[in-house]
Amino acid sequence: MRLYILQRGTAALMVPLIAIHLALIVYATGNGLTASEILARTRGSIAWGLFYQVFVIAAAVHGAIGLRSVARDWLRIGPRPQTGLMWGFGLLLLAFGTRAVIAVVFPGSLS
Ligand code: HEM
Repeated sequence: MRLYILQRGTAALMVPLIAIHLALIVYATGNGLTASEILARTRGSIAWGLFYQVFVIAAAVHGAIGLRSVARDWLRIGPRPQTGLMWGFGLLLLAFGTRAVIAVVFPGSLS
């Protein structure tokens, strides 16, 4: 039940985040901004970093819980492996997403 609420809660949270993200893409491409111009604007921006980190956490939690439901329905595995899969996938999404946020706020720091 807690997972159910968390999954729907994160889905609802992502709706405004996606709307802002899409509006930003339309604005940036409409103004012909290049990738390096965009990164010059996001460099050092704690606000955008926080925005995208919240997005990453919501997507990781939502996707991982969703994958657990898919595994429960489609694979012959018990509750413990389902939960293991959920945590593994969630932490992987969190790690990749956080790496992407770091690359946007601190460009060049990871290469
Ligand atoms: C604004 C963005 C999103 C919204 C509004 C949204 C909404 C939802 C909702 C309402 C469900 C529940 C369906 C049900 O149980 O009947 C769901 C399930 C799911 N979502 Fe999302 N989602 C979004 C983004 C994502 C993302 C980014 C991922 C992947 C990382 C994802 C992966 C899944 C998975 C795997 C399920 C489980 C499907 C199932 O239970 O059969 N979703 N989503």
